[in-house]
Amino acid sequence: MNKVIINLLFCIVLIGCSAKDDYPGVEYAPNMYHSVPYEPLSQVKDEEIGSWLDSNPNDGHGEFYNSNPYNPYGMTMLEPVPNTVRRGTSLPYRIPKDSLEVAALVNSPIEDSDEVLKEAKILYERFCIHCHGEKGMGDGLVGKVYLGVTAYNSRAVKDKSEGHIFHVITHGKGRMWGHGSQISIEDRWKIVKYVQTLQKQ
Ligand code: HEC
Repeated sequence: MNKVIINLLFCIVLIGCSAKDDYPGVEYAPNMYHSVPYEPLSQVKDEEIGSWLDSNPNDGHGEFYNSNPYNPYGMTMLEPVPNTVRRGTSLPYRIPKDSLEVAALVNSPIEDSDEVLKEAKILYERFCIHCHGEKGMGDGLVGKVYLGVTAYNSRAVKDKSEGHIFHVITHGKGRMWGHGSQISIEDRWKIVKYVQTLQKQ
């Protein structure tokens, strides 16, 4: 009797060795491999999965067949609706880093006012003054060492638009680093207003 059991076990082990190509062989504990709930990133199309242990072999598919019947291609997650905007990008400002000319056409959504300029000055002193200097001449304490900080009233910069400056603050330009991750969109537009006053000196 012992011999029969050992032989039988041996046969079972051999069956398990038949795995090749896409066929994984007999799975001894299929529920260790296959999720019963829908897996967001899986796309189960093989209706035979788990049929070896199928509780109801007549329903046309195996116990572990959990393909989503409602979505195309049995996908669990649907593709985003066309033109969906990725979260986390700065709406409504989504102009790519290398599109300074396009950015220059954008107007500030913020109205001019003394209040805004007062706040903007404080922000400028916090984020820009050390390079660009009090009057935007490029002579801040760091600017003197960093070198190459363009003066705002220089020929190259004095006529630059609000959108241009916003883009430079956001993504940087040349040797200036971007500040998009440090300054909120609204505060960036405020700083733009202040820089515009310095350009006109
Ligand atoms: C670490 C020093 C540094 C800081 C901080 C800095 N800048 Fe600059 N900025 C530069 C340098 C250097 C340039 C010249 C970039 C180039 O053309 O290579 C520049 C250029 C500019 C220009 C001219 C862009 C052009 O079109 O040529 C503007 C406008 C400007 N910065 C605004 C700002 C504002 C606003 C802030 C604060 C939010 C700021 N910068 C913070 C170093 C700095």
